[in-house]
Amino acid sequence: MDKTIDGFSKLSKSKKIDWIVNTYFSNNENARRILKQYWNSDDKLQQLHDEFIENTITNYYLPLGVAPNFLINGKTYIIPMAIEESSVVAASSKAAKFWASRGGFKAEVISTKKVGQVHFIFYGDKNKLDQFFNTVKPKLIRDTNAITKNMKLRGGGILDIELRDKTEAIKGYYQLHATFETLNAMGANFINSCLEQFAQTLKTEAQQFKLFSDKEKQIQIVMSILSNYVPECLVRAEVSCKVEDLKGNGSLSPEEFVSNFIRAVRIAEVEHYRAVTHNKGIMNGIDAVVLATGNDFRAVEAGVHAYASRNGIYSSLTHAKVENGIFTFWIEIPLALGTVGGLTSLHPLVKLALELLHHPTSRELMQIVAVAGLAQNFAALRSLTTTGIQKGHMKMHLLNILNQFNATQDEKEQLIEHFKTHVATHSAVVDAINTLRGKSE
Ligand code: MEV
Repeated sequence: MDKTIDGFSKLSKSKKIDWIVNTYFSNNENARRILKQYWNSDDKLQQLHDEFIENTITNYYLPLGVAPNFLINGKTYIIPMAIEESSVVAASSKAAKFWASRGGFKAEVISTKKVGQVHFIFYGDKNKLDQFFNTVKPKLIRDTNAITKNMKLRGGGILDIELRDKTEAIKGYYQLHATFETLNAMGANFINSCLEQFAQTLKTEAQQFKLFSDKEKQIQIVMSILSNYVPECLVRAEVSCKVEDLKGNGSLSPEEFVSNFIRAVRIAEVEHYRAVTHNKGIMNGIDAVVLATGNDFRAVEAGVHAYASRNGIYSSLTHAKVENGIFTFWIEIPLALGTVGGLTSLHPLVKLALELLHHPTSRELMQIVAVAGLAQNFAALRSLTTTGIQKGHMKMHLLNILNQFNATQDEKEQLIEHFKTHVATHSAVVDAINTLRGKSE
């Protein structure tokens, strides 16, 4: 059977599903039932979700959890997290509680500059291009007035435009490298609109620039697009306390705990196999809040990992030290986030998540997200260097395994009780279910 189709996007939703179930599923009715099971019974709400993207056939649920008791710069937050990984919210909540009684988290935004580039090709005299750029720069900015008007009224807009020579890398390759302040908006549409206008002005003005030869007048625009690498849209979050206050880590003294903990961070600073997993744990916290607040987690991921490699090796995003008996653990990361525009004013759950966070500005959200990453890393390293990760992880994963075996409520209660005092590995859970059900393996 032909599995390709023309004009799929023009079909109605139900016709799309008809085609999919007939073409790709032998058990047609079951596939259709599952897809429809996730439709919202409120038609208007469903339509809103249908219209977020093209070819929507159903909704894809992720749990939205909350991690309470986060004390950040003296203010208490309950942090919304959209994530499927069983132990992440529990780990966050634990870290939040641990630090709430030790002064909480401190966070500060270091800078909020965003970047966009017009990539273009110019074959000719570099000095003439410099002169042209200096002449045209005010017009580049002026021509975006209609786009930047409102942003400027609020205190943001274009910060600067530079001409960058990249001809050592690629023949004839130059950039307009522009920086922006987009305030509470993530700013992708704003930046891209400005860049496309820059490109147009650049091209048309070059054709009229008297010093250029006919060949030099033919600037070729390659593309105009924001950069998701935002090393100057930076936030720092930290926790600190006296070493002696770090009691409560099993049989370890506070000094032993701190020394193991700092060594674990150090390993992630120097060893990239470990650094990737270490940072992945940080992103468990970051992505979950970024997603819950309707922000673009792919942009954040790309920018954060590039930042983690900025010194030529991929390294830890967090750092730790002891100085004068004070333990400090911190993170510094680039985060381009918005609290207005995009999904933030469309998705009812995103609006609710932002309300839960007391309607943060984008600067406040940067701080909250950085804290969520730091907390997650603290929880992971604390487990890894004390009990090991599986104890807590399997405790949270237990319900998933029980659900795979269609455990009844009664079976769940009995087995959760059982695994309070037994190590929960996958095979131990399976054995316990079988025993409970009177089966021997
Ligand atoms: C699992 O999702 C995250 C961890 O592997 C992070 C880490 O190793 O630091 C536990």
